[in-house]
Amino acid sequence: MSPIVIGVLASGGGTNLQAILDSVDAGRLSAHVAVVISNNSTCGAMERARNRAIPAIHLSRATVASEEELDRAVLDALKDHLVQLVVLAGYMKKVGPQTIQAYRGRILNIHPALLPAFGGAGMYGRRVHEAVIASGASVSGVTVHLVDENYDHGPVVAQREVPVCAGDTAETLAARVLGQEHVLYPQVIQWFAERRVRIEKGQVRIDE
Ligand code: GRF
Repeated sequence: MSPIVIGVLASGGGTNLQAILDSVDAGRLSAHVAVVISNNSTCGAMERARNRAIPAIHLSRATVASEEELDRAVLDALKDHLVQLVVLAGYMKKVGPQTIQAYRGRILNIHPALLPAFGGAGMYGRRVHEAVIASGASVSGVTVHLVDENYDHGPVVAQREVPVCAGDTAETLAARVLGQEHVLYPQVIQWFAERRVRIEKGQVRIDE
């Protein structure tokens, strides 16, 4: 089976992008990262893409006139690079309706908690981990889910638990969670590469 062609949307450091690239290099993931798109031209994810000669495209409200045009430009870039699976890896913008429509069931996001808990608008970065710690929960984790029109809302594809330890700060918990993100995300993308993921009645099924 040919490697799945993925487009990564990212705004930050890009460690999940790196984990994906490393998994491809190690032969654990049959994927080709065809394009990286970011609203932040100087972020770590864009650097990592440029270092590997992966097309790194800056698209934001600074480069286009409206949200609608941004959506169109993102969709065009994905199509131009023949992207089959869209991977959000720390992307801080909401994906537009045209892109969601065109790639429904084929857009993944990773969230650093066990959704539906600690998700939704405004729940990103250290705020997620602060909220987990403040709640007194003893377990947090990672969620990979399909993206729909609402923040952190689409069907869950996979989750992995991560313990919350006594004395954790948002930083120590974030680091422990991020370590598991780097394991889970490439694994889930590999399921897509193996064409094992089906959606039945709004639920994700992974074929054995
Ligand atoms: C990760 O914690 C991810 O769960 C969240 O944004 C962060 C991105 O980190 N959506 P990185 O840019 O991949 O290092």
